[in-house]
Amino acid sequence: MGKTILITGSTDGIGLATAKTLSKLEHTLLLHGRSQHKLESAQTQLRDLAPECSVELYSADLSVLSDVESLASAVSARHDSLDVLINNAGVFVVPETISADGLDCRFVVNTIAPYLLTKRLLPLLSRTSRVVNLSSAAQAPVNPEELFKPSVQGDTAVYAKSKLAITMWSRHLADSLDDGPVIIPVNPASFLGSKMVKEAYGRQGGDLQRGADILVKVALEDEFANASGLYFDNDIGQFSSPHPDALDPTKNQQIADAIEQLLADQLATNG
Ligand SMILES: NC(=O)c1ccc[n+]([C@@H]2O[C@H](COP(=O)([O-])OP(=O)(O)OC[C@H]3O[C@@H](n4cnc5c(N)ncnc54)[C@H](OP(=O)(O)O)[C@@H]3O)[C@@H](O)[C@H]2O)c1
Repeated sequence: MGKTILITGSTDGIGLATAKTLSKLEHTLLLHGRSQHKLESAQTQLRDLAPECSVELYSADLSVLSDVESLASAVSARHDSLDVLINNAGVFVVPETISADGLDCRFVVNTIAPYLLTKRLLPLLSRTSRVVNLSSAAQAPVNPEELFKPSVQGDTAVYAKSKLAITMWSRHLADSLDDGPVIIPVNPASFLGSKMVKEAYGRQGGDLQRGADILVKVALEDEFANASGLYFDNDIGQFSSPHPDALDPTKNQQIADAIEQLLADQLATNG
């Protein structure tokens, strides 16, 4: 039976390649992007590939926390349940590091927005639903306090911290939620040829389909049904150990607590 699948950042790169792959499999695809123009272009590309494909479009800037809330509300208004959430949207180099909420845009898009979106969509996610979180081979230790303010560190450092942090909260939520969903952090493979990789490293990169194929597998295949909290490293094509910090439940909880605190602070400030 067709599944309902939300993919954030499906207007380009691995997210768009994933949507194209899924479009041929008779699922309902909820495409998210920050540009209406790019969303409509993605829809056209999917319809060219699979004319019968069921597609919905959702626009939200994930660097803005109120937009993340609006995205969750818009999806919840149209759906009672969601089979798969792929938290794919991410940034490496950004034009402006300070977000509209006074936070670090890179931490917001890569770590905090997917947490907030997942929490808000929990009522739609069943025990067997899956949340696929885009991690990376780049993972560096992050102090919980670092999430609260714009960082003066460079893009490479902040990116690696943001990707360890999403891996850590993925494991924390997987451990702490009794009734699912299945939450799996995934490195889709390094240096795949997206605009992110071209901008960050000035190189063409590998075949995006490699990343799309693993996301589709993690989202749908039986072998991942009992893998909640495990880290899949597609550089080696198997489950693997993430950075040692993500193997420490206390540290994972501290990251999740920091994000909860930050969201509560934002709510108190913005009403
Ligand atoms: N490529 C790799 O080798 C690699 C390796 C490890 C992990 N990853 C991860 O894979 C994911 C996809 O990356 P990619 O390489 O495919 O990069 P990409 O081509 O730059 O795609 C990123 C997607 O995220 C969207 N996005 C960025 N900022 C956003 C915001 N503020 N609000 C809403 N959407 C936003 C982009 O929208 P626009 O189309 O409007 O720009 C685009 O759809 C990321 O999480 C990345 O960290 C990639």
